[in-house]
Amino acid sequence: MASLTIRKLDEGIKTYLRLRSARNRRSVEEEVRVILGELIEGREEPLTPFAAPPAASSSTPMPQRSGALPEASVTLIIGGGIAAYKSLDLIRRLKERRIEVRCVLTKAAQQFVTPLAVSALSHERVYTDLFDPQSEFDAGHIRLARECDLIVVAPATADLMAKMANGHADDLASAILLATNRKVLLAPAMNPLMWNNAATRRNVAQLQRDGVMLIGPNSGEMAEAGEAGIGRMSEAIEIAAAAERLLRPPVPRPLAGKRVLITAGPTHEPIDPVRYIANRSSGKQGFAIAAAAQAAGAEVILVSGPVDLGDPHGVTVKHVESARQMLEQVQAVLPADIAIFAAAVADWRVANEGEQKLKKTSAGMPPLQLVENPDILATIAKLTDKRPPLVIGFAAETEHLIDNAKSKLARKGCDWIVANDVSPATGVMGGDRNTVHLISRKDGEIAVDSWPVMTKEQVAIELVAHIAKSVTDKSLEPAS
Ligand SMILES: Cc1cc2nc3c(=O)[nH]c(=O)nc-3n(C[C@H](O)[C@H](O)[C@H](O)COP(=O)(O)O)c2cc1C
Repeated sequence: MASLTIRKLDEGIKTYLRLRSARNRRSVEEEVRVILGELIEGREEPLTPFAAPPAASSSTPMPQRSGALPEASVTLIIGGGIAAYKSLDLIRRLKERRIEVRCVLTKAAQQFVTPLAVSALSHERVYTDLFDPQSEFDAGHIRLARECDLIVVAPATADLMAKMANGHADDLASAILLATNRKVLLAPAMNPLMWNNAATRRNVAQLQRDGVMLIGPNSGEMAEAGEAGIGRMSEAIEIAAAAERLLRPPVPRPLAGKRVLITAGPTHEPIDPVRYIANRSSGKQGFAIAAAAQAAGAEVILVSGPVDLGDPHGVTVKHVESARQMLEQVQAVLPADIAIFAAAVADWRVANEGEQKLKKTSAGMPPLQLVENPDILATIAKLTDKRPPLVIGFAAETEHLIDNAKSKLARKGCDWIVANDVSPATGVMGGDRNTVHLISRKDGEIAVDSWPVMTKEQVAIELVAHIAKSVTDKSLEPAS
């Protein structure tokens, strides 16, 4: 990237930039970055360098967040303690985690760090005054309190905590803390005697009852010579990690370490090289289950018949045409911890598949003799050696849904059946919604769990949640 030397700019532009950056309390370089950003986004105020800059007293709205949003944002309140210098590092640590930071300095904090340093590091305007006409024309303190995902107070002084515990709002920091509906994380820092003082103890206990979260303080040496004890502010890296845990809680991955085999879609059974027997299965339900199992942390192998769907992210997909190819691939994938057979496998195939395209002849229609296809679900459910510990079949029925599904469960030897009504009126085949009944064995009885109408994605998530619960309950051993 080319760098820009401000000194080489025309005097008029320099004057404009100096005035504009002073008015916005940014460095000139930062102001140039903002102008370029605005220009690129096409939302800039007209860049007329020789026109008089707006008067310094005119109201400047707080910058709106725009463009590609960073993943998370924090309002960082810096209190007036020696540890305020560590907050400069905290800004950097948050930003390197792609967390946008807007800073508020208390009056006392400005004795320890300057707004200029904070704004240079945060690349944002710094807020210091509750009665600032530039940001309060539209209740800026309310926006600072709410236009963020988390408020971090570092250092949280004894004074700030006392104000919070008692609901004071006589400066910008305490007003934001009272007006927020966001989570608040405090990083207290003070002399050990202040920390252990009965008043501070009461305030901390009250704040914890109010749902405020604390990190630290740590134990160690104090700034005051010869003093040590509990009261040191947590290190910037610890505070940033705690903030990140609150902003981006770890996603549960209940199927981590499990290998899941899924079949989906229809099969195509060839009549001759150009014709085939098929069914109306779209593969959407099986693909949704594959995506949900992958999101739950499983290693997923999807064996799919011909469908018009893109391969789900992070899933190994094996594309097949016929039932026999599907069985072959399924057997090759084993061992697996969980096998879900959602494919609509054709029951029959043409016995005498034509090697050449069948011709219309005066002899009339060629006889199509059908033979039974392998039963993939039953084959795998009845394996003795490589049978996955949990085998789930799908029953697509157009009548006597539950009864047929119950007898399928017994006949096929699988553990669960997901039964769905695929009669044309339901629109399930090829559609986006599904109404299913989960049929399983419980204490020697057959249990039927009927779910409400859901999207196929919701059915998939619900099914994966049931599988995850069963995995935890039974603690499935990985297939060997
Ligand atoms: C040199 C110095 C260091 C201070 N360090 C701390 C401190 O670490 N923690 C604390 O709670 N107060 C400390 N104080 C006292 C606060 O600055 C004081 O209570 C102030 O009113 C806090 O204002 P604030 O809570 O609005 O930031 C210190 C004061 C001075 C003069």
